[in-house]
Amino acid sequence: MDFDSATNEKMAANEANWNERTPIHLASRFYGLAEGRAPEFWFAPFEWADLGELGGRDLVHLQCHLGTETLAFARKGARTTGLDFSAEAVDAAKGIADAAGLDVGYVRSNVYDAVAALGANRFDVVYTGKGAVCYLPDLPRWASVVADLLRPGGFLYLVEFHPLFTALGPTPGPENAQDLLLRHDYLEGRGAIERDATRTYTDGPELREATTAYEWVHGLGELVTALSGAGLSVTSLRETELLPWPRWERMVPAEDGWWRLPDSEPRVPLLYALKAVKG
Ligand SMILES: C[S@@+](CC[C@H](N)C(=O)[O-])C[C@H]1O[C@@H](n2cnc3c(N)ncnc32)[C@H](O)[C@@H]1O
Repeated sequence: MDFDSATNEKMAANEANWNERTPIHLASRFYGLAEGRAPEFWFAPFEWADLGELGGRDLVHLQCHLGTETLAFARKGARTTGLDFSAEAVDAAKGIADAAGLDVGYVRSNVYDAVAALGANRFDVVYTGKGAVCYLPDLPRWASVVADLLRPGGFLYLVEFHPLFTALGPTPGPENAQDLLLRHDYLEGRGAIERDATRTYTDGPELREATTAYEWVHGLGELVTALSGAGLSVTSLRETELLPWPRWERMVPAEDGWWRLPDSEPRVPLLYALKAVKG
């Protein structure tokens, strides 16, 4: 990984921040580990349709955090590896997989060093997302890592919060209703956004240290261009109104335990799912 020192420092701050968040997430109702929530909870049916048969395939989950999604691939019979740069998260993920009796190989590495960290291993499927891409300072370099990890004919499956979703913010309107308005950038180009917050996105106690994290905005055009530049061919790009949890108060239940905005709101994409194949 040979980023400039300022970018390295930001990623180091993110690593410390994710280590600090990990014990809070482990105990949170959001992740539901104490309640024994099934890993499939985090997937919409269209994801399994896009992923196809996973039995006997080699799959790596980049930025896997606690492995709450990673386990679902092992349960479907994939030879599964999870990779994350947070030592706390990787240790926790190993413990969760062991307790579930599932064979998952976890590797601690920055995603930009994943090719060296995974040695000679090459994969049929690279999966990532749901809060991953915003931590990537450089998409062309990430796309080239993904391409290097794939076997010819293998594919990337990326399910991520839509840049329009992250651009929207609730804003008090008349009678205290929270209107969703464009509050943040949709397009990349303004560099890292510094967030200093003692609260993570789950329930649970406040962070005591390492409260600063850095995020980068990436529009869909930037993403598709980066993947094409790395030699991957995009074969589908779904934009969906669904989310796995109710991000805003006004969201209503959709099918299969997922959430969407009510019919009174414009239909806008909140999540996207991109599949790209290595030729
Ligand atoms: C929100 S989680 C995404 C995983 C999963 N969707 C979830 O919600 O649990 C983000 C993960 O990205 C990891 N991460 C962030 N930047 C990274 C990097 N440069 N290399 C490896 N992992 C990184 C963090 O440690 C964290 O575990």
